[in-house]
Amino acid sequence: MSETTMSGDDLAALEAETAAQLAAAADLRAWDAVRVGTLGKSGRLTALLKGLGAVPAEQRKERGASLNRLKQALEAAIEARRLALEEAALDARLRAERMDVSLPPRPFPPAGAEQGGIHPISRTMEELVALFGAQGFSVAEGPDIESDWHNFGALNIPEHHPARQDHDTFYLPAVDGRRPVLRTHTSPVQIRTMVTQAPPIRVIVPGRTWRADHDATHSPMFHQVEGLVIDRGITLGHLKGCLIDFLRAFFGIGDLPVRFRASYFPFTEPSMEVDIGWNRKTGELGKGGDWLEILGSGMVHPRVLANCGIDPREWQGFAFGMGIERITMLKHGMPDLRPFYESDVRWLRHWAADPLSPPSLAEGV
Ligand code: DAH
Repeated sequence: MSETTMSGDDLAALEAETAAQLAAAADLRAWDAVRVGTLGKSGRLTALLKGLGAVPAEQRKERGASLNRLKQALEAAIEARRLALEEAALDARLRAERMDVSLPPRPFPPAGAEQGGIHPISRTMEELVALFGAQGFSVAEGPDIESDWHNFGALNIPEHHPARQDHDTFYLPAVDGRRPVLRTHTSPVQIRTMVTQAPPIRVIVPGRTWRADHDATHSPMFHQVEGLVIDRGITLGHLKGCLIDFLRAFFGIGDLPVRFRASYFPFTEPSMEVDIGWNRKTGELGKGGDWLEILGSGMVHPRVLANCGIDPREWQGFAFGMGIERITMLKHGMPDLRPFYESDVRWLRHWAADPLSPPSLAEGV
């Protein structure tokens, strides 16, 4: 009973000890142990309060008042320590997470590291977007796995059309009796665009394409860019102007000879193959008197427009498609297509484009 009957000294001792324990509590966990040990259910102050009933009646009032004062003092001290610890924790965190925004930027690439580069296929796509973007084209995309209808049927290539044989198609297992294909060209995105957008339309479609074919100039996966313009009063003249401008800007040869040669595609009428002038022996572009076929084009077949719900009496258009690997190889004088996909770092380092210099029309792509 000594604790409950002692007068004053025990209370002063408890206050001093608690103050020392609080000062020693370096974090909130230690602080909480002190709080529970003092104010908790079996805490020291709680024990003193419980003992008040045993104090002789004549001392009880004074003892009660002292205990109350002590309780308030302890609660205040404990709360003050909590605030101090929380503030210190926040300060430490702010110091640790501090960012000096006045620091100059790190040199790029960081000293000792190698700078990455843009793959030549990606670079050509960026150039296509820049050049056709300047002619008012936007970019459309479609899936690699395509329905037979988008890849062939809607493009006026019905089931037993001989053009299907030219495509070396990869067929996938049938879904609902129809076999999806890996798209053999980017032309199905013409269909996807026309069934979802009302004319006027002006899009290019750079993307992956697939054919079962593999040699020095063919890969089972390759890339094409499709172009589609639908508007009122579009003529062959628009097609020619658009492509001549593009080819001269892309190859950086202002007087590059361009020839349009009658051809056949099921989805265009009339259809034209486009050739550029070069020297077959040296590979030099622009002169030499030889012709090199570079892309397919034509006026969009009225049946294709109708398949997409567009009235061919009101709207006309032209389309074109070309191989991205092919124009990239020609532009840079690359002899073989296979290294594009071999991930040989030496080859990539040699041909990569500077990521910090995207194509700019002012400088010529
Ligand atoms: N899709 C054709 C192919 O892969 C290329 C092509 C030809 C696309 C003429 C066109 C076009 O849009 O008008 O062989």
